[in-house]
Amino acid sequence: MRCASRSDELVFFVNGRKVMERNVDPEGTLLTFLRKNWTLLSKSWLLRLTGTKYACGRGGCGACTVMVSKHDPVSRKIRHFSVTACLMPICSLYGAAVTTVEGVGSIKTRLHPVQERIAKSHGTQCGFCTPGMVMSMYTLLRNHPQPSEEQLTEALGGNLCRCTGYRPILESGRTFCMESNSCQQKGTGKCCLDWGENDSSPLGKKNEICTKLFAKEEFQSLDPTQELIFPPELLRMAENPEKRTLTFYGERVTWISPGTLKDLLELKVKHPEAPLVVGNTSLGPAMKSQRQFHPVLLSPARISELSMVTKTSDGLTIGAGCSLAQTQDILAERIHLRSLAGQQIRNMASLGGHVISRHCCSDLNPVLAVSNATLNLISEEGTRQIPLNEHFLAGLASADLKPEEILESVHIPHSQKWEFVSAFRQAQCQQNALPHVNAGMRVLLKEGTDSIEDLSIAYGGVGAATISAHRSCQQLLGRRWNELMLDEACRLLLDEVSLPGSAPGGRVEFKRTLVVSFLFKFYLEVLQELKKLVKLFSVAVGALDSRHRSEVSDQFLSALEDFPVTIPQGVQTYQNVDPHQPLQDPVGRPIMHLSALKHATGEAMFCDDIPVVDKELFMALVTSSRAHAKIISIDVSKALELPEVVDVITAEDIPGTNGAEGDKLLAVEEVTCVGQIICAVVAETDVQAKRATEKIEITYEDLEPVIFTIKDAIKHNSFLCPEKKLEQGNVEEAFEKVDQIIEGEVHVGGQEHFYMETQRVLVIPKTEDKELDIYVSTQDPAHVQKTVSSTLNIPINRITCHVKRVGGGFGGKVGKPAVFGAIAAVGAIKTGHPIRLVLDREDDMLITGGRHPLFGKYKVGFTNNGRIKALDIECYINGGCTLDDSELVTEFLILKLENAYKIRNLRFRGRACMTNLPSNTAFRGFGFPQGALVTESCITAVAAKCGLPPEKIREKNMYKTVDKTIYKQAFNPETLIRCWNECLDKSSFHSRRMQVEEFNKKNYWKKKGIAIIPMKFSVGFAATSYHQAAALVHIYTDGSVLVTHGGNELGQGIHTKMLQVASRELKIPMSYIHISETSTATVPNTIATAASVGADVNGRAVQNACQILLKRLEPIIKKHPEGTWENWIEAAFEQRISLSATGYFRGYKAFMDWEKGVGDPFPYYVYGAACSEVEIDCLTGAHKKIRTDIIMDACCSLNPAIDIGQIEGSFIQGMGLYTTEELKYSPEGILYSRSPDEYKIPTITDVPEEFNVSLLPSSQTPLTIYSSKGLGESGMFLGSSVFFAIADAVATVRRERDIAEDFMVQSPATPERVRMACADRFTKMIPRDDPETFKPWSIPIA
Ligand SMILES: Cc1cc2nc3c(=O)[nH]c(=O)nc-3n(C[C@H](O)[C@H](O)[C@H](O)COP(=O)(O)OP(=O)(O)OC[C@H]3O[C@@H](n4cnc5c(N)ncnc54)[C@H](O)[C@@H]3O)c2cc1C
Ligand code: FES
Ligand code: FES
Repeated sequence: MRCASRSDELVFFVNGRKVMERNVDPEGTLLTFLRKNWTLLSKSWLLRLTGTKYACGRGGCGACTVMVSKHDPVSRKIRHFSVTACLMPICSLYGAAVTTVEGVGSIKTRLHPVQERIAKSHGTQCGFCTPGMVMSMYTLLRNHPQPSEEQLTEALGGNLCRCTGYRPILESGRTFCMESNSCQQKGTGKCCLDWGENDSSPLGKKNEICTKLFAKEEFQSLDPTQELIFPPELLRMAENPEKRTLTFYGERVTWISPGTLKDLLELKVKHPEAPLVVGNTSLGPAMKSQRQFHPVLLSPARISELSMVTKTSDGLTIGAGCSLAQTQDILAERIHLRSLAGQQIRNMASLGGHVISRHCCSDLNPVLAVSNATLNLISEEGTRQIPLNEHFLAGLASADLKPEEILESVHIPHSQKWEFVSAFRQAQCQQNALPHVNAGMRVLLKEGTDSIEDLSIAYGGVGAATISAHRSCQQLLGRRWNELMLDEACRLLLDEVSLPGSAPGGRVEFKRTLVVSFLFKFYLEVLQELKKLVKLFSVAVGALDSRHRSEVSDQFLSALEDFPVTIPQGVQTYQNVDPHQPLQDPVGRPIMHLSALKHATGEAMFCDDIPVVDKELFMALVTSSRAHAKIISIDVSKALELPEVVDVITAEDIPGTNGAEGDKLLAVEEVTCVGQIICAVVAETDVQAKRATEKIEITYEDLEPVIFTIKDAIKHNSFLCPEKKLEQGNVEEAFEKVDQIIEGEVHVGGQEHFYMETQRVLVIPKTEDKELDIYVSTQDPAHVQKTVSSTLNIPINRITCHVKRVGGGFGGKVGKPAVFGAIAAVGAIKTGHPIRLVLDREDDMLITGGRHPLFGKYKVGFTNNGRIKALDIECYINGGCTLDDSELVTEFLILKLENAYKIRNLRFRGRACMTNLPSNTAFRGFGFPQGALVTESCITAVAAKCGLPPEKIREKNMYKTVDKTIYKQAFNPETLIRCWNECLDKSSFHSRRMQVEEFNKKNYWKKKGIAIIPMKFSVGFAATSYHQAAALVHIYTDGSVLVTHGGNELGQGIHTKMLQVASRELKIPMSYIHISETSTATVPNTIATAASVGADVNGRAVQNACQILLKRLEPIIKKHPEGTWENWIEAAFEQRISLSATGYFRGYKAFMDWEKGVGDPFPYYVYGAACSEVEIDCLTGAHKKIRTDIIMDACCSLNPAIDIGQIEGSFIQGMGLYTTEELKYSPEGILYSRSPDEYKIPTITDVPEEFNVSLLPSSQTPLTIYSSKGLGESGMFLGSSVFFAIADAVATVRRERDIAEDFMVQSPATPERVRMACADRFTKMIPRDDPETFKPWSIPIA
């Protein structure tokens, strides 16, 4: 039982104010404390700081970043460091000062320059990641007021953003850096602003183009003296440290923080099972997801002995309590820890915690182990040393700590002159990703020779613990450092470090290959070093084997270079507004996102930031653990027995309709996937609701068949809807007349939306007339409203859905929020209480599905010069267990499959497979990014067959003149061609292609690739009714204007654009106009904000409403042209003229007749082209993005800053789809990848080194509002240029090595796939398993 009276007082500061808490729960984190704390603090101050966000709860995304400041007892200085509040135990903050985004600055008082700059540089879209970004940058500036660009990227490496593509965030940070950010239009040899009078830039004339999206000169300067000081009271506390043991008692857990080492050792005797919590970055996630429970936690935070660092002649001794960031600084010369997690984690995690946790993929342990590090242990009994060796790492009791011992420090001996130590790692992406495999290697050569005197090799990621290859190393002693030794070593290592085919984590063959590839890198590294030593110590030359000294030829040196982390640069180019446009008219100008400043200060309210409402309860969901089974029983009794649990909601509680047949809200009788919702617990706290879900006992009887893969679905004829087909010409006949035919297969993996704000909803039942208010994070409030209505069996008019803003949607919040809204509403009606449902990241990823994985087969017939005469493509998408949007996705996929190509004889067929996986749904691009990859792969294959570069084949087959698509919609491809040509030109494609070839000739282990991809992207829904939109505009008597429209603010800046429209139409400044929220009570029957047309259609509705109002005002204005807006409104009111109007847009004409295969399904097309260049490491499969140039046809952009932001963000999201984002399912259909640890979206270091985006000088499309175009989705597919650049590099490798070029195309092009495609002597030497002999860890579902 919690015992506040016995508990000590927890004292710390938040934003300069003192917090004194006796009633603190040791299980609580700083994040929950900040967001939810309701206790009255000193001076009657309520905490409730919701600027710090929850997005993953595992330290992996940085959304909850805050700054912690502590007095360092060793250096006697104040240390400021960023941490992830979601992992920071609240009790660990004793004596610390916490600064949250609210403490940095506020709109109400004073903005901090960091906040101002991130907002004004357009570094926020949905804004959910922004407070975390601000805090990482702020902490950096507290430590380095003028940081280097490298420090900046390092500081932001642990912060994920799913919207922006990072470029503008970095840009804002760069304004504080020492280096100037000069124009980086590399390759052209010219700065974009330097075009001479007679020069014609590829993008138009000088005065028409603009490259400035914000005015740096306006920024307030950074004044470090303005920052919050470290509280003097804490300083006094630190200088006279409390030696007394502090104890905090919770309901289940007691936190004990001794003040002296002696007390800690005593406590360890008393509580031998109690772990030491330092950073909590290992214990915290384990307690959460592996349900570890520790009734007593010991905190050594106040023990200064654990933070000591001593240097002696034989080595370095680093205190176990030192953070990994401090360790990184200390060991900078020897080990690079920069790629270990994000900076927040490195700041929190301790060396001791790291070593003792013995994670199988620990980055430090292998290198410490080979360096002969020793662990200095201490207990009441005294001290002793144990080696950090394979026995310790394997957890052998004889080599481990005794329960009463703790690790005091780690001793790392200095290396010797003829000794070489190196560390290697390969992860899914460069930064903030756990390694697949890592290694530490050390060799000591006999002085003056290349003979091995001592050798140690340790690997991580290839077993349950770090593995030492002791046996192999022993056998190699005395051998010379040469090729023969290398071959023998590889053989020995593969034998000793053996991985079974079914090894957890999968990627078995890749891991085996890395085992030997790393050794090869080390081998070359040592040879290189030897060369240097030979030069240095000429006496030894004779002792070295001259044959082998020469072996690191220049061509092979490329194996040694790691890809450095570089700071992206780039230029964004757009067309300036007409010089005659009135200054007040904001249309076409790069106006900052309306909420940007609020995002940056944490004042922007998201759904879960709404303060707790009276009598509110929390809901947690119970999901199926079986893929296909009959539900035999659901026993909720144990859950109901738990304290604070109020009720369990099952299908029986639904008063109305339980979803649709085959797509139930709550499962009845049968489940068809792991993750299907069965019931929901309602409790007084979120923690208790979650705990109670584990007490619900469900018994199942498994059913057959169980289908996960597309292949199995085809075999079982398991489909969700009929085939969709389009055909033109005579495909069979054409195949008979062509020179060559090739057939191929393409597999495209699925994608998780990974919106930073997980699904959440708050349902508030009202006391009268069954009314409900629903606050929900959705792209489609009308759908939530309708679903709740049918679920509760009450009319739609009683339900109001409110959407203030959504923390990213990308299609994932079109259909699913209705499910959560409806279940929460059932809970609200049954209990009579408001219900809050916030999905944690794991549940969100498990339940909600994502982009459809695709399997495509093509047969293509062409002439020898690359003209494609016939193409037959068959696509299957994995729809999961219910229909959802799968039929529509199939249709869009088929409609868009031709991309930019005119092929006379075409046949496209598509089917959506029904499998026992969570239902897949809408996702940015809606089938196009997967489908067009098949088309482009086919083109690439044709090029390879013809021996021509792919861009030639693309160009040859592209639409060139006014034409009709396969579904007979007429269009003019002129803009497509312009985009293509400008992209070729602007990227200096042809000269760079030659440079790439030159590079490839000179480098064997690193290869470059370059690709340019054209795009014709159709915008909108294929039905007119889906393009209708409405708006409601009120003018109030003070002249202020309130606009409401049917679109939802997802970060795409729709509200900003709508204000720009209203401002132009009403001819008043934007500051007069306000948008509060999207609500079903003000604008009814809205369409989902999706398909890139949100701003188009709602813009027309807002325009219409404003024009109606202006027309009403016209007589008054005419009569008093000299009057002010306020005068006219006053007069209108006096004259009883209605100052409120509804605007309406009936929608674009769009239809599709699938019977006939003809239609006019899309209002217009967006054209674009992207060129990307990459470099791959053939030994590890890693790649570096060197440069990307995008040309996009935005027509007359409403807001170039927002549109460029959409293009960049979707490009980076597409790049993630095609390179790193990989969903892993178990053979039982359980999604493994349920957190940012396992699912890697791009981080800041994944942005191309040079990233240029240009909007094509305007073309016209009279159809849309002010001739603008919707750009929300199209950039996604351009991310495939990175995929094809990687494929280009791989193809070069394969050509050079004489291996077939037409390998199977698989997306994403992960390091695993790239490495395995670059077959070499190492891939040849690894053992291969017969697939029939083992059960793999994961199954491919595409
Ligand atoms: C998002 C994220 C990303 C990560 N990425 C990487 C990565 O890329 N590479 C990598 O190698 N690691 C990575 N890690 C793991 C991280 O390095 C470890 O979790 C961390 O080093 C553990 O240190 P800690 O202080 O947080 O340990 P805690 O969680 O506080 O403690 C862990 C264990 O160590 C014990 N312990 C701690 N100190 C002592 C002591 N002095 N004496 C005896 N026992 C002690 C505790 O009893 C406990 O059992 C990542 C972790 C997270 C959360
Ligand atoms: S919520 Fe804390 S790091 Fe993601
Ligand atoms: S703005 Fe970064 S996640 Fe949306």
